[in-house]
Amino acid sequence: MDPRSASGAEQLIRKAEEFAKRELGRDATGHDWWHVHRVRNLALELAEMENADRFVCELAALLHDVADEKLNVSKEAGLDKVRRWLEEHGVGQTVIRQVMDIIATMSYNGGTNPPMTTLEGKVVQDADRLDALGAIGIARTFMYAGAKGHRMHEPGQHFDHLDYRSSEKTAVFHFYEKLLKVKELLNTEHARTIAEHRHRFMETFLTQFYAEWDARA
Ligand code: ADP
Ligand code: NI
Repeated sequence: MDPRSASGAEQLIRKAEEFAKRELGRDATGHDWWHVHRVRNLALELAEMENADRFVCELAALLHDVADEKLNVSKEAGLDKVRRWLEEHGVGQTVIRQVMDIIATMSYNGGTNPPMTTLEGKVVQDADRLDALGAIGIARTFMYAGAKGHRMHEPGQHFDHLDYRSSEKTAVFHFYEKLLKVKELLNTEHARTIAEHRHRFMETFLTQFYAEWDARA
């Protein structure tokens, strides 16, 4: 299989799908295969609009969570595993460098990672961030909180001083700590357009949530 030929590239993508499915298994905290599937499709759409390299974007999107530190002993171990896989599958050094660079810097990490330098990195990071917004983003947030044993909501509490992964945080607090800030952090114009709608949907959700909480709706 030569990943530089069209059929070789297609085969490699199929193999990457299988690898991601195998590695992520049945994770229920937001990194399941269907998250990867959605990020890949969003990345391909953004790549089209932004004229980015589709192959690099698709490959990085498929592999982006395999290296996640939550699923590996360390972030380095996760990155090594992805690099080995790319090498074993005959991917050229240039593409390996591009993909590894994207995966190593893209996680949200409380918003502390350095900005993406390549167009492909911007596209894949935007795709991952868009999947944290809107109806899907809301669903993922409550899944994550449930899986971690976090509370749903605690009126009047301030969590500003807590660490990003603290178990004291509520699902509703996650909207303020991350979700409502994401639209300002996006790299590409097209992602910003998609985010507008998803952002408004989350605001509507919160308005209704508080109204029901206070028996006003
Ligand atoms: P990524 O690795 O893609 O940056 P995370 O592991 O931070 O994603 O999050 C996976 C999913 O769980 C996302 O939808 C994210 O918004 C949500 N999530 C992350 N942290 C929390 C939290 N403390 N409470 C609720 N949801 C969370
Ligand atoms: Ni992701």
